[in-house]
Amino acid sequence: MPSDNHPMRLLLGIGGGVAAYNTIELVRHLRFLKVEIIPVLTANAQRFVTPTALQAVAGCRPHADLWDAGTEAGMGHIELARWADVVLVAPATANLIARLAAGLADDLLTTLCLATEAPLFLAPAMNTKMWEHPATVRNIARLRADGATVLGPADGEQACGELGLGRMVEPADLAAALLAAEQPGALAGRNVLVTAGPTREFLDPVRFISNRSSGRQGFALAEAARSAGARVTLVAGPVQLPTPAGVERVDVTSALEMRDAVLARAGGSDIVFAVAAVADYRPRDYHKRKLAKTECRSQRMPLSLRENPDIVTAVAAATPRPFVVGFAAETHDAIAKASGKRRSKGLDAIVVNDVSAAGIGFDGPDNAVTLIHAQGEVALPKMSKLGIAKRLIAEVAPLCSERQGPRLETTGAAP
Ligand code: PMT
Repeated sequence: MPSDNHPMRLLLGIGGGVAAYNTIELVRHLRFLKVEIIPVLTANAQRFVTPTALQAVAGCRPHADLWDAGTEAGMGHIELARWADVVLVAPATANLIARLAAGLADDLLTTLCLATEAPLFLAPAMNTKMWEHPATVRNIARLRADGATVLGPADGEQACGELGLGRMVEPADLAAALLAAEQPGALAGRNVLVTAGPTREFLDPVRFISNRSSGRQGFALAEAARSAGARVTLVAGPVQLPTPAGVERVDVTSALEMRDAVLARAGGSDIVFAVAAVADYRPRDYHKRKLAKTECRSQRMPLSLRENPDIVTAVAAATPRPFVVGFAAETHDAIAKASGKRRSKGLDAIVVNDVSAAGIGFDGPDNAVTLIHAQGEVALPKMSKLGIAKRLIAEVAPLCSERQGPRLETTGAAP
């Protein structure tokens, strides 16, 4: 994992596809994660992205030619292959995938991929029909069998106008996936509790107070924590989502039920991520029979509310206590309000999202957040909720180890 002492050294191989222009954005995300990058372009890649633009964002001169005497006299191809901790080929075109699968070494990038002992990651990008062609399917299977990790492709509209699998995974998600794949055991041996979704506070058997939470961000965190090696318990409000593989799920409905489920398990947890949008209030009275419209009218809508207990505050006040990460859904003054909540609830960290911004926050596949902790803030740009979850785990795992020390018992990390 990248750290100030030992940043990840990445050879970024760029193939000749239209998605090559996205590598400028990809380099920016990776540099933000303190990854040291040397770009290597194929001849065709230079038709889509210029070495000058890459040099400006990567902070070093890209390599492109196996026969460049100047480059070989400096850091030659064998030194480059040895320098890398990781090789990522993005975009990996159908042609490049075929050459790599065949073991060709007919330009600098394919030669490096053969010469390196570093793990190889591929981010395919091509037309759907090319991706589905038996030759590409065979080549991908060959490369996987040789140990390569394939990230994507993603679904959606392609440069050629067709819809389907074939887009290169978005740069921010690619950076997050690479980071997560390179630190699969960041939470090995840890017990992680995640809350997700809304709560429902019933007034009578058919009416309730709730909110717009879909549970997607919390479920993504549970999945990412599980992938990072943790034993994960997911306390879920009423949502329509499948349980992530290997995760133990406890379903609840109301805030009081969520409080009981969480407090019964928080003591055995190393980290609690409180992603759930818990209703702050519940109706003071529960009517066992459905209230009739006329009844409500005559009683002038008897909706008197009572405050719910604050679950995450109770978790943070326990002794011994887990590392507690709250979430804050804000519509304005997000950082100031979330920092205030972190202090008043006694949390180690809080993750704030602006739920008034379009395309992020409640429901939907994407989010953009800022993680605030005692030592500072980290802003994560818009990406998939799973990408956000992976990046949060990359940030939180070392903070938790710093406070609790390393986990000694690492056997049986996964159920
Ligand atoms: O579920 P999605 O559709 O994917 O949307 C994700 C999300 C927007 C719900 C999520 O990212 C998020 O912001 N969750 C926190 C929402 C929220 O309730 O924020 P809050 O500011 O009201 O609460 C702050 C913290 O206190 C939260 O960690 C919450 O779980 C906790 N809390 C709140 C009230 C209460 N009674 N008990 C609590 O523990």
